[in-house]
Amino acid sequence: MDIQNKRIALVTGATGGLGTAMCKQLFTDGFHVVANYRNKEKAVEWQKTMAAEGFNIEIFEGDVCDFDSMANMMKDIESKLGSIDVLVNNAGITRDGRLAKMSKDDWHAVIDTNLNSVFNCTRNVIDGMIERKFGRIINISSVNGQRGQFGQTNYSAAKAGMHGFTKTLAMEVAKLGITVNTISPGYIATDMVMAVPEKVREQIVAQIPMGRLGGTHEVAHLVSFLASDATSFITGANYSINGGQHVY
Ligand code: CAA
Repeated sequence: MDIQNKRIALVTGATGGLGTAMCKQLFTDGFHVVANYRNKEKAVEWQKTMAAEGFNIEIFEGDVCDFDSMANMMKDIESKLGSIDVLVNNAGITRDGRLAKMSKDDWHAVIDTNLNSVFNCTRNVIDGMIERKFGRIINISSVNGQRGQFGQTNYSAAKAGMHGFTKTLAMEVAKLGITVNTISPGYIATDMVMAVPEKVREQIVAQIPMGRLGGTHEVAHLVSFLASDATSFITGANYSINGGQHVY
């Protein structure tokens, strides 16, 4: 907690579409929000825009793919602001293509950014959470980790792996006041989804019973809900938020 008795929430990959909405919602709901970024120029501009809209967000640089970089960033945050109470593992990329065409680099980039990052970040905050007997870890996975998606062996493997991590860590820290949950968004109106070729995207939207893409604010509300003190009995869960695209 920070000096104003606000819980500190760290969002990785915060300057993207989903991350921005999460930061705004967490701020609105009373958290001291810390945004992790890799691109300094973009982050500084982003912080200014957020402040102009009334959202005062701290920004901290670090590469989620690099364990030592995350260790240093977490130490820096804790020494400057206070202990990290909520970690949202949100950083993620796509490198889509059929496996028969996929390069080794595209495989590793996605596994590093989307899955190894979860270890790199969580491992560097878990000791403090255990000591303080409080923590909220929220892993942002995907409908495509639950069901698979043509052209995404790397992404689907990483996103499915995130929930495996969630389930096991949830058991390990259940008695210590720490909850660990997964959110699996479907197709949300972000740059990542808009980068899918239009024709392919139209076919995907046609498979969504609600007939539309999700809004970033819809995912952000769920993040803030799971970050709250009130959700202390929810752990190891995987929340689908996909407009009915995948029900099971
Ligand atoms: N099912 C079956 N066959 C499919 C297919 C599908 N969904 N999509 C493509 N194909 C077939 C084509 O019909 C074509 O077959 P023929 O050669 O027999 O005509 C063949 O695959 C084309 O293969 P290529 O490798 O040449 O395809 P491509 O270069 O045109 O692109 C792709 C393939 C990159 C996978 C492209 O289809 C694509 O971008 N798909 C969307 C992937 C996607 O949904 N990504 C989500 C990104 S957003 C995100 O990930 C956020 C989140 O969490 C939801």
